[in-house]
Amino acid sequence: MKERPATQPERFYITTPIYYVNARPHLGHAYSTIVCDAIARSKRAQGIETWFLTGTDEHGQKIERSAEQAGRTPAEFAAAISGEFRALWSRLNLTNDDFIRTTEERHKRGVQKLFAELRDRGFIYKGSYSGQYCVSDELYVDAPPGSPCPDCGRPTETVSEENYFFKLSAFERRLLEYYEAHPEFIQPEARRNEVIAFVRGGLKDLSVSRTSFRWGIPVPGDEKHVIYVWMDALANYITALGYGSDDPADQERFRRFWPADMHLIGKEISRFHCVYWPAFLMAAGLPLPKSVVANGWLLFDKSKMSKSIGNIVRAETVAEVLGADALRYFLLREITFGQDGNFTFESLVQRYNGDLANGYGNLVSRVVAMMHRYFDGKVPEAMEAGDAERALQAAAESVMASYPAQFEARDFSRALETLWGLVAAIDGYLTAAAPWKKPPERSEDDHRPLQARVLGCAAEAIRVVTALAWPILPESAAKVWRQLGLGDLEQAAQTGKLKTIEWGGLRPGTIFAEPAALFPRAEKDAIERMLNLENENNLSAVAAVSQTSAESAAVPHAPAKTADATVAAEPEKAKITIEDFARVELRVAQVLVAERVPKSDKLLRLEVDLGDEKRQILAGIAQHYEPEKLIGRKVVIVANLAPRKMRGLESNGMIVAASVGDEGAPVLAGFLEDVPVGARLK
Ligand code: MSP
Repeated sequence: MKERPATQPERFYITTPIYYVNARPHLGHAYSTIVCDAIARSKRAQGIETWFLTGTDEHGQKIERSAEQAGRTPAEFAAAISGEFRALWSRLNLTNDDFIRTTEERHKRGVQKLFAELRDRGFIYKGSYSGQYCVSDELYVDAPPGSPCPDCGRPTETVSEENYFFKLSAFERRLLEYYEAHPEFIQPEARRNEVIAFVRGGLKDLSVSRTSFRWGIPVPGDEKHVIYVWMDALANYITALGYGSDDPADQERFRRFWPADMHLIGKEISRFHCVYWPAFLMAAGLPLPKSVVANGWLLFDKSKMSKSIGNIVRAETVAEVLGADALRYFLLREITFGQDGNFTFESLVQRYNGDLANGYGNLVSRVVAMMHRYFDGKVPEAMEAGDAERALQAAAESVMASYPAQFEARDFSRALETLWGLVAAIDGYLTAAAPWKKPPERSEDDHRPLQARVLGCAAEAIRVVTALAWPILPESAAKVWRQLGLGDLEQAAQTGKLKTIEWGGLRPGTIFAEPAALFPRAEKDAIERMLNLENENNLSAVAAVSQTSAESAAVPHAPAKTADATVAAEPEKAKITIEDFARVELRVAQVLVAERVPKSDKLLRLEVDLGDEKRQILAGIAQHYEPEKLIGRKVVIVANLAPRKMRGLESNGMIVAASVGDEGAPVLAGFLEDVPVGARLK
């Protein structure tokens, strides 16, 4: 196996998993991608040539079925959701160098080449498979018919097909030897142990084609088979670089960046990345990625945030109310990387106000304002440093030494804690020096040099914080950099100009720009605004939801909890019992009043009659139903949903509707026969 020669310039290739397009992006997807972006930015800031790849995984039975349910072709369906991922990544200021879609021609060509290569080398043969398959995980399950999937608990399907098989069993020993020789290959330790135990348990050959559906890449030369979606998906890491292309520019990119330095993945897909993928690469004679690093899960309401559980929060909501940087900061500060961590709106707002609005943001605006007030915005020559300045410099230098190492070890939470220790030190220094207070016995002329020293020193320390924080707070750090008169931080960082951030970089004579708002304090209604946005989105996109998912999306959650490694994610539940269903009180109601909610283009306010009572319900259907046409109509409502407030109005229940098409347009449930108002649906 060829290693990259040590003399080559330093390069770094980092990837996210490619995301399934059966569901819209949520905070869990954003988390993995933000982590990669922060790492990629920090590598670039060190002057390392970096390639950051993300994309969407668009083939397979799961996508085919989701598209069918939405009444769209798989291609249309995939294009729409893939577009949402792409738009979100740009909203979150992610700097991916490429975005691969597995439906692209360049990918298809590369996957077919990989398949042909493995077949030519004798690692793929034809056989027949009869066994269980989990469509949700796109995973073959070694268990008797009727068994649930051991990973997600959903029912498996029996498939009986003539298939191509990959000789995975031939790689058992080589894989174990590789893990042994490269302890850094699988991280963290817990995942490494799991994978090793799995391989030690014995590897069976792997079915790598399917014939029972069409939405995939055809096996070259035998087009009735499509290539197994995981082989298709994993290959994105090389096809995006140019594997399989004849174009010299692609071949050069592949040569420059392969093998990857880091595949960042969610912990649930370790087996695919640490067993199947290296085996495919070994079989193809290609070098193996240097590391596969697994992040833990973002939990909401104690379960893994996921569409199937229905407990998702969208990244757009947080970005809209608090800004993209706030989300980036929160996720990296709050979650201990590698472990599961809770998301709550309360802890988000608490961190935002504490660390960003009242912390860093407030510090910057005070110092910038004073520099303008006392020195017309021009950094003055400073008199010699005193003890307090020397202490602040020492604190900054100690942070400059420890923060990069903590960041490099992916201990983002601790790294940010360290960096915010410096924010607190600057704050303390300013408060103690109080440059705005002139002691009465001191003349103006005597006071100016002291002010110059304090403001110059505080601004210099802010410069250090800002340079180090840039990979996590790119938008705000760039604003601060400009205010400090230092120009375009994005450009400086991306071109390796921040390689060394030594104390003393802010030169006298530098002209500060006008102050600009950084993190306006989140007021009491911030959480309500985020919940409203989520509700409006849920109501308009997915009108027919279960009691559990509706509650988790709509009801404010328990007080802030910090990242909690001890909270295990519950397995995803596919089926509910009849008792579960009975908890949901579905009833027929008649619309008495329907009107638009002021300042909302999505919400209608309805008053409905349930026979024994009247209710007010808010429904996110304004873009699809004229209010006057609803009056008198009989609808189905979830009657025992906990009340919640939207736009200051209380909603007592939920209207049930089918969610149709890619946009999830609501179509209200109704009856062909006449039904009495108040009747229960069972
Ligand atoms: N398509 C496959 C991956 C193929 S990679 C060759 C897949 N897609 S996925 O959309 O289901 O999930 C992809 C990744 O999204 C996870 O591995 C994880 O990195 C991220 N997350 C999705 N939900 C998450 C949380 N709730 N928490 C943290 N990360 C989550 O699997």
